Formats: sequence, structure tokens, C-alpha cells
Amino acid sequence: MHAYAYTDPLYQAELVMASEDTGGQTDEFCVRCHSPIGVMGGEIPPLDNSMASDIALEGVQCDFCHTVPEGDVGNGAFVSTPGEVKWGPHDDAPSAAHESEFNEFYTEAEYCGMCHNVNSPFNGLPLDDTYTSWSESQYAEDEVTCQDCHMTPGITQFEANPGRAASGASKRDHISIHEIVGGNVFMLEELSDGLYGEKAVERLQMAATLDVSVPEEAAPGDEVTIDVSITNSGAGHKLPTGITEVRQMWLEVSVTDAEGKMLYSSGQLDSEGTIEDAVIYHTVLADADGEITDKLWEAESIVSDNRILPKETEVESHSFVMPEDAADPILVEAKLLYRSASQDMVDELFGEGTYDVPVIDMAKDYGSINGEADVPSNGTPGFTGLLLVISLVAAIGILRAKE
Ligand code: HEC
Ligand code: HEC
Ligand code: HEC
Ligand code: HEC
Repeated sequence: MHAYAYTDPLYQAELVMASEDTGGQTDEFCVRCHSPIGVMGGEIPPLDNSMASDIALEGVQCDFCHTVPEGDVGNGAFVSTPGEVKWGPHDDAPSAAHESEFNEFYTEAEYCGMCHNVNSPFNGLPLDDTYTSWSESQYAEDEVTCQDCHMTPGITQFEANPGRAASGASKRDHISIHEIVGGNVFMLEELSDGLYGEKAVERLQMAATLDVSVPEEAAPGDEVTIDVSITNSGAGHKLPTGITEVRQMWLEVSVTDAEGKMLYSSGQLDSEGTIEDAVIYHTVLADADGEITDKLWEAESIVSDNRILPKETEVESHSFVMPEDAADPILVEAKLLYRSASQDMVDELFGEGTYDVPVIDMAKDYGSINGEADVPSNGTPGFTGLLLVISLVAAIGILRAKE
């Protein structure tokens, strides 16, 4: 996404809207992080790109990132020193093309925090708190940085990626990966010819675990409570993070009887792609009149923020009344879903039919009432199911060993 940070159509649409709403007051602010070279070179604004060089359109690119000797967290507070010296994580990386110097800053979360913490330029309201939520988490305590999860194959922890950074470069125990993927399957599918969309799906599927808890038995007329625990098990910041007035994460819960009759459902999409009766995990912003807005430049207050902190669990409860004629056993299915933006918002910005915002299954779990229900064959067993299989296998192993 760094390569597309400026040309990204969703960004462009919001950038232009912000500019129109504020009479151009946000132009430099918005472009500073999305095309730092454009702003520093005096090429953007203007936003019509009439003065933008190709390199300014490359968003957050190599030469910008490797010529930042220092900076502060938030609102693009970087020091930029374009020139011969490229800084990086090694003190032994000579190159024929430029000077190479070691700079510890590149290995620290604060480096990413320069841009991944956004405060309103008008009132300081925290609009993106990715760095802050990381810095207050166990990950910060354990020194697990953004780079460990986003620039290695580990996704939720550091994992070495041995190799060479370039032909002729030394072989190393670890070369940092530069795809730097997050959760934006939508734009990666559109912009990278699908090249990195799968990687973003994989990352989202490592971020959370679900656990469904239901009563073993229920009689007709009983009010049945379903508790779904959502754990942010893999993201080093709130889940979701980034521009969370726009991102959506929610639970789809359905209860079906043995004949496939739907007894209860929530969080399904209607024919327009709108989410029905569900809690959406995100931030809600309000403008100066207290009206809800998803325009971050109009935000004056945060109405709510129900996102899940790193390593924390939220329990969402659902209930339904068991009907007279339900065929046992009853299957309860919970899915955690994510999309980069609501279909409504995207239709409004680009016109209906332009983009289908993909919905990603992050995690699933199942429960049964009145007997053991069959888990749908296309669904992978829930995490607890897998654990059970693994522990059974392990138990058999132990028995064998004893024999
Ligand atoms: C968003 C900023 C950013 C961008 C864009 C970026 N880099 Fe990096 N690069 C880094 C950081 C941070 C590290 C150190 C990561 C670490 O310590 O794990 C790094 C590490 C490297 C390394 C050392 C690799 C290793 O681990 O041995 C090389 C070489 C490199 N970058 C080249 C490039 C090139 C070429 C591009 C453009 C194609 C590029 N970078 C784009 C931030 C960036
Ligand atoms: C110069 C500012 C800047 C720096 C420094 C920077 N980023 Fe970013 N990053 C951005 C912008 C802007 C985007 C959004 C691009 C878009 O969505 O159009 C982005 C996007 C991302 C995404 C993709 C988000 C998604 O929704 O999928 C990830 C992941 C990410 N950055 C991680 C990092 C990490 C890790 C570092 C530090 C090694 C870093 N960034 C350093 C500006 C920056
Ligand atoms: C423990 C591993 C871990 C650490 C540490 C971590 N991340 Fe993430 N990050 C993830 C996972 C997993 C996701 C996918 C779930 C999500 O979108 O939140 C993610 C998603 C993201 C996204 C995309 C959010 C969205 O949905 O639009 C951004 C941006 C991002 N990370 C930036 C950062 C930055 C900056 C840091 C350091 C301050 C960081 N991450 C630290 C694991 C991590
Ligand atoms: C301090 C740096 C910074 C500033 C200033 C900034 N952004 Fe961003 N922007 C980011 C980062 C980092 C991301 C990635 C977060 C994520 O993936 O959710 C991002 C993502 C976005 C996205 C999501 C793109 C997508 O494909 O989903 C939009 C839209 C956006 N910004 C618009 C704006 C607008 C409009 C402004 C000015 C009012 C602005 N940004 C100012 C850093 C910044």
C-alpha cells in the first residue's frame, strides 16, 4: 500500500473531498504522509497533479524512506535528508550506487509511528492511534516492533527470512520483507493485480480467534444465550486499526436446526451490502454539531471506540427463543468478518457497480445445542476443534509411548 499511498482511488476521493470542504486547508496535511516527496518538492498541492513528477506519484517510496535519519511520532514529523547517504538496519551494506549507513531508528516502532499516528490538524483529536495503542501494549513491553510483524513472514511475531537483499549483496540471516501488508484486501486486489490481496487475507486470518459458548441443552420456549468471545490474538495494536471510522469488523451469527431452518441470524449483508443488526467494531466520529461523520477533517469528538485492544477479549452476547418445532441438534455458527469500507460509502464515492468491497472471513467457531451438530463441510473446524484433534493425537501418542 505504500507504493499506492498517493494514487489509491479511495484516498484520492477523500483527499479531494477534504480539500473542497475546507477550502484547501487540508491539502498539505493529507499529502505529507501519502506523498512526502510531493510535498517537500513543492509539487503537490496542487491536487490536480499538474506539477507532480512520477516519483511524487510513487507515494511512500524507497528513497524517501531510506533518507530519514530521525523523526517524531505522529502527523508525519520526519526529518528528510535526501542525498547520497541511504540509512538502514545494517552497518555492513556497501553499495556501488550510494553510501550506506546504519541507523537504529529503522529498527524501531517510532519510525513507523511518524505516519501511523494521525491527529486532527484543527483540534488535535486522535484519528489514527496505531502507534499509541501499540506503545501501550504488551508487544511494546516485549519489544515486538511493527517491523517484526509487518516486515517478516511471522505476521504475529518476528520470523527470520534468510537471503540476500540484492544480487551481489551479502547473504544474511534475515532480510526484511517490503510488501508491508495490512488488512486492505480491497485496494490490494484492485491495484496490485491481486498480487498481495491474498497476503492481506492471510494476515487478517492471523489477527483474531473466536470462541462460541452455548448451553448444552435447551427446551422449546427457553431463551438461549450465545456468548461469542473475540480475542485480538495477533495484531499488535487495536483491532481493527488505521482509519477506523471507515473500516468495519463485525460478527455474523446464525443458528440453524437439523433441517437447515434459520432460527436466528445477525450480521448478514442485505441485498445492498448493508450489515444487518450487528455491532461494528470501529470508531464513530462526530462533527462540531455533534452529527456523526466519517470525514476525518470534520471530526471534533470521538463518540465511541469499541475496538479490541491487543491480547484482549470482548464477549458479544446474542439470544433467541427456542421454537417449538426445531429439529435437533441445533448448529450455532459465528464468523468474524472484515471489510475496508462500507459498500454504501464506496457506492456514494464512485457510483454503484464500480467496486464490490470484498468481505473477508477472519475467524470462525461453532457450537451445538441438544446434540452434536454437523459442522458445514466447507467450513474449517473452529480453532478449539483443531486443538481438540491435536490434543487427541497427542494423547494417543502418550498412550502408545506408555505401551
Ligand atoms: C515505509 C518505509 C520503507 C520503504 C517504502 C522502503 N523501505 Fe527499505 N527498509 C525500511 C525499514 C524500516 C527497514 C529496516 C527493517 C528492519 O529493521 O526490520 C528497511 C530495510 C531495507 C533494506 C535492508 C534489508 C535487509 O534486511 O537486509 C534494504 C536493502 C532496503 N530496505 C531497500 C529498500 C528498497 C530498494 C525499497 C524500495 C523498493 C525500500 N527499501 C522501501 C523502510 C522502508
Ligand atoms: C511517510 C509515512 C509513512 C511511514 C514512515 C510508514 N508508513 Fe505505512 N503507510 C503510510 C500511508 C500513507 C499508508 C496508506 C496507504 C493507503 O492506504 O493508501 C500506509 C499503509 C501501511 C500499511 C497497509 C495498511 C492497510 O490498510 O493494509 C501497513 C501495514 C503499513 N503502512 C505499515 C507500516 C510500517 C510497519 C512502517 C514502518 C516500517 C510504516 N508503515 C511506515 C505511511 C507511512
Ligand atoms: C504482533 C504483530 C503486530 C505488530 C507488533 C504490529 N502489527 Fe500491524 N497488523 C498485524 C495484524 C495481524 C494485522 C491485521 C489485522 C488488522 O487489520 O488490524 C495488522 C494490521 C495493520 C494495519 C492495517 C489496519 C487496517 O485494517 O486498515 C496497519 C496500518 C498496521 N498494522 C500498522 C502497524 C504499525 C504501524 C505497527 C507498529 C506501531 C504495527 N502494525 C504493529 C500485526 C501486527
Ligand atoms: C500522519 C500521516 C497521515 C496523514 C496526515 C493523513 N493520512 Fe491518510 N493514512 C495514513 C496511514 C498511515 C494510513 C493507513 C491506515 C490504514 O490502513 O487504515 C492512511 C490511510 C488513509 C485512507 C485509506 C485508504 C484505503 O485504501 O483504504 C484514506 C482514505 C486516507 N488515509 C485519507 C486521508 C486524508 C483525506 C487525509 C487528510 C485529511 C489524510 N489521509 C491524512 C497516514 C496519514
